[in-house]
Amino acid sequence: MQIKSLEIKDYRNYKKAFVEFSPKTNIFYGDNAQGKTNLLEALYMCSMVRSHRTTIDRELINFNEEESHICLKYIRNDVEHKIDIHLKKNNKKGLALDGIPIRKSSEFIGKFNTVLFSPEDLSIIKNGPSRRRRFIDMQICQINPVYLKYLAKYNKIIEQRNSLLKQILDTSKHEETLDVLDDQLVIYGTYIISEREKYIDSLNSIIRSIHLDLTGGKENLILVYERSTDKSEFKKELLKKRNKDIRSKVTSVGPHRDDLGVFSEGIDLRIYGSQGQQRSAALSLKLSEIEILKEKNNESPVLLLDDFLSELDTKRQNALLKRIGGIQTIITCAGLDDYVKKRFKIDRLFRVENGEIIYE
Ligand SMILES: Nc1ncnc2c1ncn2[C@@H]1O[C@H](COP(=O)(O)OP(=O)(O)OP(=O)(O)O)[C@@H](O)[C@H]1O
Ligand SMILES: [Mg+2]
Repeated sequence: MQIKSLEIKDYRNYKKAFVEFSPKTNIFYGDNAQGKTNLLEALYMCSMVRSHRTTIDRELINFNEEESHICLKYIRNDVEHKIDIHLKKNNKKGLALDGIPIRKSSEFIGKFNTVLFSPEDLSIIKNGPSRRRRFIDMQICQINPVYLKYLAKYNKIIEQRNSLLKQILDTSKHEETLDVLDDQLVIYGTYIISEREKYIDSLNSIIRSIHLDLTGGKENLILVYERSTDKSEFKKELLKKRNKDIRSKVTSVGPHRDDLGVFSEGIDLRIYGSQGQQRSAALSLKLSEIEILKEKNNESPVLLLDDFLSELDTKRQNALLKRIGGIQTIITCAGLDDYVKKRFKIDRLFRVENGEIIYE
């Protein structure tokens, strides 16, 4: 996968910008609040159709404008493609691939793959379960378009079920509707659980050696899918918890309650890991993501590093750089210090200044 060019119009603090990328290392540097993350966000939008920072599209449109455009040209398996995203303040966004409109995000995600490294990713182990679930879900979406559809349906049913629980508590009626919702929940939930099982299995087959490498052979990392219910027990568990759920007005069992356990040498890193261990495990997770996409597509994803290297110590930087070699990488950083100059063969350098990109 290789980006050729990006054109953005009225996106965040950009009026108009056009960038042609090198197939290797591209560096965007500039002071705070100039538009570096905004630029990476626009690239990320082209792969996930949503921002990594917000779920509200109108935030992406320039304060003074009603609409915004993103146009990305990229090469996949030697064929050039074009993605168009048209954001509107008061309407649904428009998507097109190679000039053909696409109505559903689920048919769009996965066409252009990226792996984004942002400083917040390093806290994924110490954050709560929802961040880890989101990490797994986003990864599966990139390789399996059906997953997103099912996940959206599942989440919708959870919402409906929770509001029904409240009605039942208030009126003691409608319990038969709950049976219908539970049946649907089990259908979509079972699919989600089995896709997560598969994904975490494949992560485990990759992450071990990455993490051993990163920790100088010291730590065996094992990921455990912690389910709130087994697939085969889901329906039974929903029934068992029904009265409790009605009382609390929330659905207490199902994949929306699952977690990803991260263990090193038997120790639960979420609880007992040192800060360094947690950060290393987080980095290993991200590095595994690259490998999974590579395996799936026979091609590397584009790497987006948002002010990420400055967050890592030399050992972790080296581990990352070792795996980046040969992959198109877009890096943002505040300054062009010696470190950046020495560590990278910079193929293309851009300065970002107040919503403008200057090729140097
Ligand atoms: N919808 C919008 N319209 C106009 N400006 C916006 C919009 N959304 C965000 N901005 C502005 O864009 C600016 C640049 O943001 P960005 O996150 O890209 O900075 P950055 O260069 O990554 O800075 P840092 O080095 O601090 O991470 C911010 O000052 C923000 O106020
Ligand atoms: Mg930034």
